[in-house]
Amino acid sequence: MITEEMKSHLVEQAFLARESSYSPYSRFKVGAAILSSDGRIFLGANVENASYGATICAERTAAVKAVTEGAKSFAAIAVVGAEEGADFIKNKDYAFPCGICRQVLREFVPASGELLVLAARAPGDYREMTLDALLPHSFGPEDLSYLKEGR
Ligand code: THU
Repeated sequence: MITEEMKSHLVEQAFLARESSYSPYSRFKVGAAILSSDGRIFLGANVENASYGATICAERTAAVKAVTEGAKSFAAIAVVGAEEGADFIKNKDYAFPCGICRQVLREFVPASGELLVLAARAPGDYREMTLDALLPHSFGPEDLSYLKEGR
């Protein structure tokens, strides 16, 4: 169970992470904060590239940082994305993770439980959905279980 207090804290951390966004091309700054199942928080921001396709989203930056620090199960992720200088209160849309990021996050859903996705537009204004709702009928590690069975 993630407390409301922890959710708000995670959203605040995503806002902090957004400050590190390197997005000179789109000027769309995104921050993400992952709460791992072992209680740690990992921050990430989008990192763009002059070769546009080489851009990395905030969610994947945070996921890669978490996994390489030994956290392979994610309880929640908070995401905040909006153009540079945006007034979050007036911004109508909540920026949920893109399709590629949903699939990357899918890999690290807790073995028993859900991965909660919080999309924020202001520190006290966020919407929450499970990753399963954002990526139904998903393909995950279990689909490759034949590999473990030696087939
Ligand atoms: N972006 C993210 O960081 N996360 C998403 O889920 C959607 C898009 C970034 C990529 C790019 O730097 C900018 O937002 C505009 O697409």
